[in-house]
Amino acid sequence: MLQNKDFIFTGNLTSLPDKTSFSWKSPSNIALIKYWGKTDPQMPKNASISFTLTKSYTETKVYFTKNYLKKKSDISVTLDGQKMDSFVPKIEQFLERINYFTPYLSQYNLEIITKNSFPHSSGIASSASGMSALALCIMSLEKELNPFLVESFFKQKASFLARLGSGSACRSVEGELVVWGKHKDIDHSSDLFGIKFSEETDPVFQAYQDCILLVDKGEKVVSSTVGHNLMIDHPYAEQRFNQANQNLARLVSVLKSGDLENFISIVESEALSLHAMMLTSNPYFILMKPNTLKVIEKIWRYRKDTGVPVCFTLDAGANVHVLYPKKWKEDVNQFIELELAKYCQNNHMIWDQAGMGAAPVSPIF
Ligand code: DP6
Repeated sequence: MLQNKDFIFTGNLTSLPDKTSFSWKSPSNIALIKYWGKTDPQMPKNASISFTLTKSYTETKVYFTKNYLKKKSDISVTLDGQKMDSFVPKIEQFLERINYFTPYLSQYNLEIITKNSFPHSSGIASSASGMSALALCIMSLEKELNPFLVESFFKQKASFLARLGSGSACRSVEGELVVWGKHKDIDHSSDLFGIKFSEETDPVFQAYQDCILLVDKGEKVVSSTVGHNLMIDHPYAEQRFNQANQNLARLVSVLKSGDLENFISIVESEALSLHAMMLTSNPYFILMKPNTLKVIEKIWRYRKDTGVPVCFTLDAGANVHVLYPKKWKEDVNQFIELELAKYCQNNHMIWDQAGMGAAPVSPIF
């Protein structure tokens, strides 16, 4: 079992290239069992599992330029063609956190050029896709310094670094299902990085559809940092962490058997439990909007009337992820267009599906 010390770079720091660049495209992910609550440094209080997405992604290119004079990296970030000075402190904090594992980085200035496939103000968090894309660019540099680095370790360390940027980002490196957090029923699961869920899953879960309904594109009321902190003195925290681990154990057998009825009840219960934690925290928050509830009611009615196995999940916000097997795509897409689109801001939806994870890109910037 890999430990923190195994991720410390041990290669040669004397022959670093003067200038090099790498680019990666990394998708977002949607948790089925939610991560909500952590300890320092980014260690989850319970195990989680997510579908890696396909169409919601971040594409990032990093130019690494050797910095001979200083000991600290100069960082610049450009998002969709615009300089984003406000992103720099978060990246600096990330680089400080990973410095122990990536000592070569402090000898470089980083010019980060990034873009998201989804609009910045869509209410979709870009931290998972953004941090994993950045971590992968850093690992490409590490691979240049150590050509013997094998692919499995490359991915593990990319996920390990991404976690230190944003917890859920460690689940975006691979696909289609990724587990993060030590769990007694899942071999090789770890709090330090995400692992591909390697049990044989029922084919019904392949290319699982996720239509993201952008019910509210506003800024998040509760940042994830604030949200995770709310779990520290939360009266139901321990029960919640146990519940999540139990739900994951149940989900593991559901993923193997293809039991959609139980899949639906676990996934929807997880989404509502996440929101229940926010409703009952101090201070308390309601992150759902009236249209979130309207969409949920419509999904329940449609499922009851037709028997089509469609369900929802939620992130820490008002947007709804509508989840359904690929073989029901035509029916559900029609239902979404006819009955749910009207609850989205400007009818905005993202038709996504589970996919295989991050990939390097040839330069496009
Ligand atoms: C509700 O990964 O955004 O989406 O580790 O503070 O960056 P940080 O938090 P983040 O939290 C995601 C929480 C969630 C549930 C999940 O994705 O598991």
